[in-house]
Amino acid sequence: MRRLAIAGVVTTVAAWYITRRRRRRRKLPRLRTAIPGPKSQALITRLASHECPAITARRARRADALGAAATDPIVWASASGAIVVDADGNEFLDVTSGFGVANLGHAAPAVVAAARRMLDRPLVHAMGDAFADESRVELLEALASFLPGLPKGILGCSGADAVQAAIKTATLATGRAGVLAFGGGYHGLGHGALAATAYHAPSFRAPFEAQLGAHVTFSEFGGAVPSLRDVGCVIVEPIQGRGGIREPPAGWLEELRAKCDAEGALLVYDEVYSGFGRTGAWFAFEALGAPPPDLICLGKAMAGGFPISVCLGTRAAMDAWGASRGEALHTQTFLGNPLGCAMARASLRELRRVDAPALAERRGAELRALLAARGLGPVRGRGLMLAVDVPDPLRAMAGLLRRGVLALPVGEGADFALGLVPPLTIDSDQLAFVADALAAEFPREAGPARELAVPEEDEVAGR
Ligand SMILES: Cc1ncc(COP(=O)(O)O)c(C=O)c1O
Repeated sequence: MRRLAIAGVVTTVAAWYITRRRRRRRKLPRLRTAIPGPKSQALITRLASHECPAITARRARRADALGAAATDPIVWASASGAIVVDADGNEFLDVTSGFGVANLGHAAPAVVAAARRMLDRPLVHAMGDAFADESRVELLEALASFLPGLPKGILGCSGADAVQAAIKTATLATGRAGVLAFGGGYHGLGHGALAATAYHAPSFRAPFEAQLGAHVTFSEFGGAVPSLRDVGCVIVEPIQGRGGIREPPAGWLEELRAKCDAEGALLVYDEVYSGFGRTGAWFAFEALGAPPPDLICLGKAMAGGFPISVCLGTRAAMDAWGASRGEALHTQTFLGNPLGCAMARASLRELRRVDAPALAERRGAELRALLAARGLGPVRGRGLMLAVDVPDPLRAMAGLLRRGVLALPVGEGADFALGLVPPLTIDSDQLAFVADALAAEFPREAGPARELAVPEEDEVAGR
């Protein structure tokens, strides 16, 4: 009996020790192979045979054509917290949050547990506009508690879905088809959202220009606001994300709000990137002290990894859809997927529990100080939605990858910089590692540390 008890204690202590070591090991990058490693390269070669070259494979094939296979991307095998492990067992620190999704870190335990409960139930699918389940009810209630002035929503599967739902809602509510969008704005690449996207126009819009309609006009972000006579929808990112982490001048969003009110258009904030604590407030418009919108688009961090989004609106705007007359005017096969709703519900609860805005504020200040101490900058942005100017963001991206840090460039033209958008749960040692890696890549005096073959700009910027 005693022996059994001792064996039990030994097993427990051993399990604790192994878990602790594993956790410790997972905290900072560790590279076992050249980057990309042989397994990643082999998988990319297979991918290139079957995936449209517009996606991942394009980078690999072009790089091969240039004789620079070392620019192949790594292939992810697992990800938790701020650490991503690739197919070769290399461990990287992710300062992209996987395109701004992992505010709570990858595979946040509370979110994974919610998914597991749904899988065990099991309930992995319901039916769009036809049959909902309880997780959708709870999610929409939770979303309304974040933005009580926008209590009704349309769920979707991507940021572009939310944007398209907002444009449709504004059209119905105002009876006007016109949309005003802004230079540098990124709203997604589905035709409806692309019509309002100005960012990287020569790459993203030009091939499809004839299909994008004439209903969208563009104006300068932060510039004079034109007449809204035929415009029902004014769509803007309060802080531009992909456009370079750009803020408008103080008072400009107030001006937009006033103009919309005076001329009868709806104001839509696209906070797909900036939402849920990223900027040091729950939403970027709050961080800027700007007035609330009529509609807001949210996605990315909402469920910590499940593809789900929402367009939330005022009662008046949403009620413009009217009562259903048989066929749903707007729905999707996977709208309100139970797994996604449960994960999003858990994610929102967890974001509140960790006080995401305060975390972003604290860690953002820490990262700024670390970069300043190493002579890096200038840094722009709020909370942990930051960009740092470096001599060559593409070189930085490729160089950092080989130092164990995943980062992406943001912006175009004068705003082209390296995005620093790590999980809000990143810790001090990890932030210091990122700052050291950047400093090593761009030593203060000597300029770029070494020559690296890097992919073309549009290949990196493509999502
Ligand atoms: C502000 C903003 N809106 C919309 C989108 C589109 O989201 P998705 O890629 O999920 O369609 C993005 C994606 O980066 C974004 O940053």
